[in-house]
Amino acid sequence: MNQDELKQAVAQAALDYIKPHLDQDSIIGVGTGSTANCFIDLLATIRNDFDGAVASSDATAERLKSHGIPVYDLNSAAPLEFYVDGADEANERLELIKGGGGALTREKIVAEVSKTFICIADESKKVDILGAFPLPVEVLPMARSHVGREIVKLGGDPVYREGFTTDNGNVILDIYNLDISRPIQMEEKLNNIVGIVTNGLFARRPADLLLLGTSEGVQSIPRKGV
Ligand code: A5P
Repeated sequence: MNQDELKQAVAQAALDYIKPHLDQDSIIGVGTGSTANCFIDLLATIRNDFDGAVASSDATAERLKSHGIPVYDLNSAAPLEFYVDGADEANERLELIKGGGGALTREKIVAEVSKTFICIADESKKVDILGAFPLPVEVLPMARSHVGREIVKLGGDPVYREGFTTDNGNVILDIYNLDISRPIQMEEKLNNIVGIVTNGLFARRPADLLLLGTSEGVQSIPRKGV
């Protein structure tokens, strides 16, 4: 199977996983990116089986609406039963790097208020140690240089994502060469830098279930202890 087919397979697996739990009142948290897009397109096939969705980005909201799926404000919908989203990297503890598409802040908020976070990814995303993928951080524009200097003190090499503005009006720094052997501790250190809105480490609130697309089929990997 090629990468697109693997994404399609994990999206279908996520739909199969949540479908028995849905009713007319269900509101589903929906992520951002090419794998999440496969899931959105499949959700459209069962759109009469649930109420609507909360979107983690403007792009996702538009795609949901284009399928006639109602999009709710999180403030009137949380807590959510399920959040389904992709990732840029996942380790065996289901700690993630996210934000390759720049939607990390809303993604982290929706993940936080969801009872079950289902991560859907093809096998290229599974790693032993997080950090080969540059870690995105969303930054208030006026704090960009300050945050960059603080990141250098942590051993990382921040690169400004030129020409990109987040849905929240902020900028993204992608951090290369950061030692993320202790993801929870690094997430907290980055949270403590004034000017960072959100960092793309999802370790304090990891995924609960990873549906990983492999050439042998979709592996279902629950977080240990869940
Ligand atoms: C969006 O900001 C990201 O967190 C995405 O979830 C991540 O980049 C995965 O995207 P793909 O499914 O396109 O690889």
